[in-house]
Amino acid sequence: MDIKDIIRQRKSIRKYSGEALSINDRELLISYLSEEKNLIGPFGNTIKIVFKDLNLMDEKIGTYGFIKKAPSFLVAICKNNRENLLDLGCVFENLILFLQQNNINTCWLGGTFKRKKLQMEEEMVEGDFIPIISPIGYAAEQPHLFGKIIRKMAKADSRIEFNQLFFQDDFQNPIVDKEKVEILKYVRLAPSASNKQPWRIVCCNNGKTHFFIERTPKYGSSMGYDIQMVDMGIALSHYLKFNDNEEIIIQEPQVELPNENYYYLFTMK
Ligand SMILES: Cc1cc2nc3c(=O)[nH]c(=O)nc-3n(C[C@H](O)[C@H](O)[C@H](O)COP(=O)(O)O)c2cc1C
Repeated sequence: MDIKDIIRQRKSIRKYSGEALSINDRELLISYLSEEKNLIGPFGNTIKIVFKDLNLMDEKIGTYGFIKKAPSFLVAICKNNRENLLDLGCVFENLILFLQQNNINTCWLGGTFKRKKLQMEEEMVEGDFIPIISPIGYAAEQPHLFGKIIRKMAKADSRIEFNQLFFQDDFQNPIVDKEKVEILKYVRLAPSASNKQPWRIVCCNNGKTHFFIERTPKYGSSMGYDIQMVDMGIALSHYLKFNDNEEIIIQEPQVELPNENYYYLFTMK
């Protein structure tokens, strides 16, 4: 299946059929997770991802009714710093798109679960924490009402206007290059925490693409980690699907930032 179709088809699934992963799908997942390269992010950090069978007991980990009848969960473990969170976003989204390609559903969860109840102590070493989990299974035929309400509240089916996210040379000009527009359309479809879509990208004629974050003030401050940095890693995952020969450099361009919530992060070349 074409990556564009996979990106278009993925959406957060909050109600599952309850059916366990088939033997075939389980093997696909385990073999994906056993390949080291799939767990290393573009900044070089390895993200631990554990497949946890919870025997239909997702209530146990307190998803507060957000998630229904998930047969299993994926648990991501990493260190709590900027580059690890960028790598986590990228590595976990790559996995989610791989699962989507095989018609296996997921939902990024950064807040609505109880970390202690996961009982992951044995998997973790000093400095590790659990930023994200995801249910994994097959979508129920009908979403539950709560799921529909969450989608509506997060405006999950819409995205910020293209020309407010992606720019040419500075934050004034729209991108006209058709090829670039076509690729960035698929960055725009990336999932993000509360659908805030903090990624802002400036493309330059010298072949450099600069990634900025527009932070939502105070958003996520009670979570104990920079959840919008995870969103940036997700955007990078989508970008790399179309530009896998590019490398990360740190080279802040001389452009005027639109407001004090904008910060430069990195450049792709
Ligand atoms: C880092 C991250 C954390 C998220 N945390 C939650 C969460 O705690 N609970 C939840 O119901 N959805 C969560 N979501 C899902 C988003 O609400 C969802 O991706 C967004 O509304 C867009 O919808 P879509 O994924 O269907 O395209 C999270 C998404 C991301 C990327």
